[in-house]
Amino acid sequence: MNLDAMFDHAAAGTAPIASISIRRPDDWHVHLRDGALLRAILPFTAAQFARGNIMPNLTPPVTTPAAAKAYRERILAARPAGSDFQPLMTCYLTDATMHDEIERGYAEGIWIAAKLYPAGATTNAHHGVTDIPALSPVLERMEKIGMPVLIHGESTDPEIDIFDREAVFMEQSLFPLLKRHPGLKVVIEHATMAETLDIVRAHSLRMAATITPHHLVINRTSIFQGGLQPHLYCLPVAKRERHRVALRKAATSGESCFFIGTDTAPHLRSRKEAECCAAGVFGGATALQTYVHVFDEEGALDHFEAFASLNGARFYGLAPNAGTLVLERRECRVMPTVPIDNDEVVVFRGGVTLPWSIGLVTVAD
Ligand code: DOR
Ligand code: ZN
Repeated sequence: MNLDAMFDHAAAGTAPIASISIRRPDDWHVHLRDGALLRAILPFTAAQFARGNIMPNLTPPVTTPAAAKAYRERILAARPAGSDFQPLMTCYLTDATMHDEIERGYAEGIWIAAKLYPAGATTNAHHGVTDIPALSPVLERMEKIGMPVLIHGESTDPEIDIFDREAVFMEQSLFPLLKRHPGLKVVIEHATMAETLDIVRAHSLRMAATITPHHLVINRTSIFQGGLQPHLYCLPVAKRERHRVALRKAATSGESCFFIGTDTAPHLRSRKEAECCAAGVFGGATALQTYVHVFDEEGALDHFEAFASLNGARFYGLAPNAGTLVLERRECRVMPTVPIDNDEVVVFRGGVTLPWSIGLVTVAD
């Protein structure tokens, strides 16, 4: 594909590029929730992405092919009229996961990957895996059938400083896992540290990382700027500025092991502005506008399509989407909140003037 041909040459030369057209993108990490919340927030993801890897951390978690199938049906039923958004389902790994069931769900096309939450690492992760080495029979089977494992890479040891939990997980859990399973396809979800990115690069034949929009624009200071900002609190928590800079460099580099995973994770305002704030940033409504702005700032718009629409599909062995999506350097302001019953969800960068907008979307070539 000739990327040059996709730029608006009316704006070439010294004038800024006004728009880019990319193949329709995918979100390889999205929390769609269920019920009223699902119905309220799905239209935002469906307006931006053609497909999404749906995270399975519902209550109860999605651990069986039957549960994944039923959840997929609920998502399809909640799509706005005319939407062709395709939910790609994932299986929540527990200590009780059985390798035959994992294989059956994969062989039947019900799920495309399994999510490994270390038990207690984040929202609804208490049914997660308490002993990763003991999961070996399941991971061996996944290795054999080519099914990727998607990892929330944080240590759950309460003694470990929260800002070190990703690094400690890589040392204590990821390296042994990679050694035990040399052919297993692994995605480090929502990478937040420079060192993690280097680990992924070093194993890029079978490893990848998703990068969220919020980790590209906030650092750990942002969470405390002007007072505690609950809507910027997520897990893994944002790190020092040098890590944000490294994430921007990786995302915009064109390297095929990095792709979009928004980790859009809505919680009601009442759960965020509470004595104990739930972890999660609702970034789904402003994701592409944020990502493309970062690529623009980094002078890397020519790498945007790879990050948004090609690298992830290639990793999962899927064809890129049909159709195109245009991003325009034209100001937009997304609504600040999404109402849900008597509550609401606060939109990451909602109500703020953003320099890039989503333009025309076509669904077929
Ligand atoms: O901040 C987060 N929120 N991180 C996760 O890993 C889970 C997510 C959620 O489901 O709310
Ligand atoms: Zn997540």
